Amino acid sequence: MNLSIGVDIGGTNSCVGVVRPDGVVSERTQFRTNEYDNGTAYANRLAVAVREVMQLATANTNEPVTWLGLGVGAPNGNYLSGCIEEPPNLRFKGTTPLVELLNERLELPRIALTNDANAAAIGEKIFGAAKEYRDFIMITLGTGLGSGIFVNNQLVYGHDGFAGELGHISVIPDGRYCGFGRRGSLENYCSATGIRRTYFEMIAQRGGSTSLDDKPLGAITAKDIADAADAGDEIAKATMDFTGRLLGEALASTALVTSPAAFFLFGGPVQAGEILLEPTRRSFEKHLIPPFKNKIKIIESALPMGDAAIIGAAALITPENKKTSPNL
Ligand code: BGC
Ligand code: NA
Repeated sequence: MNLSIGVDIGGTNSCVGVVRPDGVVSERTQFRTNEYDNGTAYANRLAVAVREVMQLATANTNEPVTWLGLGVGAPNGNYLSGCIEEPPNLRFKGTTPLVELLNERLELPRIALTNDANAAAIGEKIFGAAKEYRDFIMITLGTGLGSGIFVNNQLVYGHDGFAGELGHISVIPDGRYCGFGRRGSLENYCSATGIRRTYFEMIAQRGGSTSLDDKPLGAITAKDIADAADAGDEIAKATMDFTGRLLGEALASTALVTSPAAFFLFGGPVQAGEILLEPTRRSFEKHLIPPFKNKIKIIESALPMGDAAIIGAAALITPENKKTSPNL
């Protein structure tokens, strides 16, 4: 059986999985990304995790295994350079030549890296709800806000591999600071982290009790806030409304650039469904210019929560991805 390995590097955890040709993750392991503040030590640990899942898969598969290779999705991952470049939400700063470091440590036919949200977009295209879409944009709401842009059936990389950093477009002049020291970026408001910030700010301003009072502040997730809004919590509802308004407006501006047929939204806060999608769609339609109105869908991702970037990253090295990548 042909198997590949997908790695999803998040600010907190790194998840490693073996992916079957049908996009199902068969073996997985994870370790803490934030224990590493240098790229070489991180690559050593990642190589151990990769060997671990490879051994498990070989032991648990009844037929001979052919390893196609390893794909990695990471914040600020650059497909063209194979490096993680200046990540604001990771502890290893500067540039980490991850593909080179992994090639030195593992014997696999192909190792590739891309941006985490690009990986999710590729996963959505090959295995998820975007199969039939030639032009779409994937938006991931996690620690940061990421995006992957498909135009004419190809992922857009731009001249040096960094196209699609929509989390860093500015939406509020003089607004909140981000990890790059810039102000008012979309990710400061509409990522899972941004949603928590809005919620806590609103509680501080408005006072009163909320349905999440029993939880320690640090344990409240953006998904909890979305669920509380769904259950009628006023401050949580105001938070999701504010988030949707900003996100919808930003997507309406973004639509002008590539004219996508759909935006796919992915992440914990999206799982509560309409509570975020409804205000986002309302604001989106309101801010679109007339030739664009009522033509572009905003859809919840169909990828499984924990595995989207693993599946997408693994898909980087599949033959199908040849169609979604520039001719390199
Ligand atoms: C990073 C992106 C990443 C996004 C989601 C942003 O802060 O700059 O590269 O896709 O977070 O993780
Ligand atoms: Na991207």
